[in-house]
Amino acid sequence: MSGLVIAIDGVVGAGKTTTARMVAGRLGYRHLDTGAMYRAVTVAATRRGIAAGHTASLASMLAALTIDLEPDGRVLLNGEDVSDAIRRPEVTRAVGAYSDAPVVRKALVAQQQRMGAAGGIVAEGRDMAAVVFPCAELKISMVADLDERVERRYRELQQKGMVITPEQVRVDIETRDREDAARDYGVAGEGPEVTEIDTTDMTLEGQVDHIVALARQHGA
Ligand code: DC
Repeated sequence: MSGLVIAIDGVVGAGKTTTARMVAGRLGYRHLDTGAMYRAVTVAATRRGIAAGHTASLASMLAALTIDLEPDGRVLLNGEDVSDAIRRPEVTRAVGAYSDAPVVRKALVAQQQRMGAAGGIVAEGRDMAAVVFPCAELKISMVADLDERVERRYRELQQKGMVITPEQVRVDIETRDREDAARDYGVAGEGPEVTEIDTTDMTLEGQVDHIVALARQHGA
């Protein structure tokens, strides 16, 4: 193993993706954005008109699908850059159903475990500590108040030029909070305990510094 496996999960809009990317950059690790992978599958399936319940069609689609997470943050679906498409609100609304499909989870978890096998990775997503990397040396859970999360996500989408109101963002986040709460990601019973970080009053740099310091304590 060259480097730690750092598992980061947390609530929607807590800043997981940006933080994980920056932590990875600081440590010289790879960033594994697993949400982007579920989003890419959602884009692929909806384009083909495959519903989340169509297990056989999803299975054959997945067998022929390549998802690449590039070092520069781009997400490629069979070689096509879908980095913007996967962040669109309609994908955000649809992704929950596809990520619930066992056939999708099985395929993506296997790919994620292959990607993390060599260590030196910051893996981000809801089931990282419990399911994908139960032996991760460092497990972080990021939380933040709802108002702050709405504000952050709204700003992010605006910067991407998306036409959306703060109210819509709030409804989306509340819906996803409910969906996440109803999901069973398993218990993070192996390896170290999960460290919770409340980012409500933290700056992005502060979050990154904090996690990098924890990683250093663990030998990164
Ligand atoms: O973190 P995100 O918003 O990009 O995640 C997109 C969706 O994928 C979200 O509904 C949760 C789901 N997801 C999942 O089920 N398992 C993961 N490891 C990562 C994301």
